[in-house]
Amino acid sequence: MVAPGMRIYRVRNERQASLVGPPGHAPIDPAVLFGRSAPLRLEIGCGHGEFISQMAASHPAEDFIGVEHDPLRVTKNAHKCLKEGASNVRVFGGDAVDLLRRLPDACMHRVYVLFPDPWPKPGQRRRRLMTRSTLLELARITAPGGRLIFGSDTHNYTFQVLANLTTTPGLWRDCYKPNGFRFDIPTRFPTVFERYKKEEGCTIAYLLQERTAAPAPPAIIPGGRHRRPPGT
Ligand SMILES: C[S@@+](CC[C@H](N)C(=O)[O-])C[C@H]1O[C@@H](n2cnc3c(N)ncnc32)[C@H](O)[C@@H]1O
Repeated sequence: MVAPGMRIYRVRNERQASLVGPPGHAPIDPAVLFGRSAPLRLEIGCGHGEFISQMAASHPAEDFIGVEHDPLRVTKNAHKCLKEGASNVRVFGGDAVDLLRRLPDACMHRVYVLFPDPWPKPGQRRRRLMTRSTLLELARITAPGGRLIFGSDTHNYTFQVLANLTTTPGLWRDCYKPNGFRFDIPTRFPTVFERYKKEEGCTIAYLLQERTAAPAPPAIIPGGRHRRPPGT
């Protein structure tokens, strides 16, 4: 069922559509997508567009890619970006993992994964997005010195990501030593979920990892196929 406030996003107007990335499986060339070469940031699961629209508006010299599963939220993201005057955003509908595979190596300088679906029950945890294989794809698309920012009120998810990071040694440098996480850091543009969770009195655990210069090994793609390293 569609929430009454979301019904207006069932139809996408021309201006909103101009901020929506092309669907399909074709590789994405950010320079073609934005018509310029600029530092690139990615938000995975950009929800209602609060964060990406404000970040993009406050960084006009950079470009932003968002990916969101829910088509109505994709339109809402485009709507928010237009409202903020941020034309430096392209929002892609569909699954984040499919989008990652379309992106070139070392193209991102920031990747945000903020309040991903927590799948809190033990039997659901295998559905979580931040598996080792997703982390390998993120390592492939993140440039040396680029950063991965993760936040969640589901602490066992945050710790699961930290544990998965230990299985990709040398690819990321932990910026939150010695524990690997920080609680309740101030954020400039809180996401919708971040605001809700803080209002509920939840403690938020954040990760900050910096990509090293070590080459990313080939990612294991679910279904048994292996991505071949470039040039092979
Ligand atoms: C809990 S909400 C958080 C939204 C936003 N980041 C925030 O903090 O307000 C998770 C969002 O991620 C989207 N999502 C979940 N799995 C996804 C996937 N595999 N690919 C793309 N988007 C996904 C959901 O549709 C939802 O909008």
